[in-house]
Amino acid sequence: MKEPCGILLAGGTGSRLQPTTLPISKHLLPVFDKPMLHYALSNLLIAGIRTILIIGRSRDIPHYRALYGDGSDYGINIKYEVQDRPTGIADAFLIGKSFVQGRSVVLALGDNLFYGAGFGRILRECLLSNTGATVLLSAVSDARRFGVLELDEFQNPINIEEKPQNPKSDLAITGLYFFDESVVSKAEKMVPSERGELEITSILQEYLNERRLAYKNLGRGVVWFDMGTPESLLDASNFVRSVQNRLGVQIACIEEIAFDNNLISLHSLTSLCQGQSASSYFDYVKLKYGL
Ligand code: DAU
Repeated sequence: MKEPCGILLAGGTGSRLQPTTLPISKHLLPVFDKPMLHYALSNLLIAGIRTILIIGRSRDIPHYRALYGDGSDYGINIKYEVQDRPTGIADAFLIGKSFVQGRSVVLALGDNLFYGAGFGRILRECLLSNTGATVLLSAVSDARRFGVLELDEFQNPINIEEKPQNPKSDLAITGLYFFDESVVSKAEKMVPSERGELEITSILQEYLNERRLAYKNLGRGVVWFDMGTPESLLDASNFVRSVQNRLGVQIACIEEIAFDNNLISLHSLTSLCQGQSASSYFDYVKLKYGL
C-alpha cells in the first residue's frame, strides 16, 4: 500500500479577520507564541504523515517557504502549490492531483487547532481504519458556522449540510479529514456550489451516498478551535497560553514533534535552536533536551 500523504490548505482571503489580513495571510498570524499554521502542520506530523503539500496564495507561499522550506529541517518532505482565489476547500484535490498520485490523503485546514490527551492516538487510528472518508466531529453552540453532520437514532450518519440556517444537529465537522485514494476522482466530478466553491461537504456527501463515511466524535476529551474570526483567534491564543503555562508543555512545537518521532537527530535539533536566544518557544526545546 502506498504511504498516505497530507494536504495543508492555507489559502483564502481571511475575510473575517480583515483588515489584519489585508497584507498578511491569517495562517501566519500568531496564536499565542507561534504561527497559526504550526497547529495544523503538527497534526499531520503526529498522524504519521511525512509528505505534505501546502496550498496557498502565490503572495503567501514565499512566507510559508521561509517558515518550513522543503521540510528537510523537520525530517519531512514539503511541496507547495498555488490557489490564488478561494475556489473551495475541495479544489485542493484538483490542485494537488499530481502530488497525490493515487495515494490516500489527510486534509488539514490551516486555521484549525485541536488539543487533548490521546488526540495523537485518535489521529493514527483514523488513518489506519479509514476505508472511505473519516471526519472528526465536535459539538458546538452555533452549528450554523460549520459543516454539520446529522445522525439517525442508531448514530449512523444520514445527512451533511454546509452552514445550514437551521442545523439538524450540533455536530460540526472539523477541519481534519481522512480520505481514500478515490477523493481526487470525486473532486473532478464536482461542480461549484451557489457561492462558487467546490465544497468539502459535497465530497463527504459522495462518501455518505456510498455508505463509506465514518466519523469520530471528539466528545469532551478534545478541544477544537476554528480560528477564522477575531473572537476565536483570541480564544485560541488564551487557551494555548493557559495550557502551556499550567502543564509546562508546548502545543504544536514542530521541532519537539519531529525529534520525538525520530524524524531528526539531536544534532539537527540543536541546529534548529541555534541563534535563538530570546524566544520562549525555543527556550522550551533547549531546556527539555538540555541543548
Ligand atoms: O473549520 C471547519 C469548517 O471549515 C467546516 O466545518 C466547514 O465544513 C468547512 O467549509 C470550513 O468552513 P469555514 O467557513 O471555516 O471555511 P474557511 O473559508 O474559513 O476556510 C477554511 C480554511 O481553508 C482556511 O484555512 C482557509 C482555507 N481555504 C478555504 C477556501 C474556501 C483555502 O485555502 N481555499 C479556499 O478556497
